[in-house]
Amino acid sequence: MAYQTLLTSLEAGIFTITINRPDKLNALNMAVFAELNLAFDEVNTNESIKSVIITGTGEKAFVAGADISEFSKFSKQEAMKLSADGQATFFRIENCPKPVVAAVNGFALGGGCELAMSCHFRIASANAKFGQPEVNLGLIPGYGGTQRLVQLIGKGRAMELLMSAGMIDASTALQYGLVNYVVPAEELLAKAISILTVINSKAPLAIAACIESANAVFDETKNGYQVEVDAFGNSFDTADMKEGTTAFLEKRKAVFTGK
Ligand code: COA
Repeated sequence: MAYQTLLTSLEAGIFTITINRPDKLNALNMAVFAELNLAFDEVNTNESIKSVIITGTGEKAFVAGADISEFSKFSKQEAMKLSADGQATFFRIENCPKPVVAAVNGFALGGGCELAMSCHFRIASANAKFGQPEVNLGLIPGYGGTQRLVQLIGKGRAMELLMSAGMIDASTALQYGLVNYVVPAEELLAKAISILTVINSKAPLAIAACIESANAVFDETKNGYQVEVDAFGNSFDTADMKEGTTAFLEKRKAVFTGK
């Protein structure tokens, strides 16, 4: 499908979504949000897509935030809708049954940091910078940033970043556990692809169950241990579980079908 604000490509089961507004440092306007939803419709329905990379065009920015130019005339009600709709999009990413990795290629500020945090894990280029600078604008993060930043780096560090509007560099993000790896910019996509190539060789329903169970830790409406019991049991009804255990016992490599 052709998008106006995204570039997409599908290679060897890996669907790469590139936010493509380089003249605005890939800021998230409403068109980007609408197209991210369409792209995740595609992710959910296209069986050839096994996993997803989200990145930004260019070497300067992953995403420099929500598009501030859309904010100035909003009423309180419109702002609340923007926040709820943005959160809903990022919940879709977080709960996507296929692995979603952020390849952070520069500034990940405001909504950009929030987008990266909604992905299942993050890889950063050495020039990446992370922050929630909303208090500079008299705002706070609206797309789940206050929640996920605390989850990922702990309350004290998150509080400082949120209140100071400070930016951290890639090595600090690594030290904080916000990103799993820091690599030279030219190796960023290759690193994401090499990790996803390994993940794509595993049983897809088991991968989806890992995502669901790990996300349940942060969902107060769920008992994560019970989610795990159910998912563990369900895996015994899958052809892939039979194939995986049989292949191990027969000392051969399993061939998973996602069934
Ligand atoms: N929304 C809308 N436009 C944005 C944007 C955003 N969040 N971030 C950058 N842009 C635009 C700039 O307005 C500029 O557009 P112009 O060339 O038409 O004037 C263009 O992107 C380049 O940005 P610029 O500020 O000139 O680049 P820089 O290298 O001097 O600074 C940043 C880079 C990231 C430090 C700076 O752009 C910035 O602070 N952006 C806003 C970050 C933010 O507050 N995000 C949270 C939003 S809620």
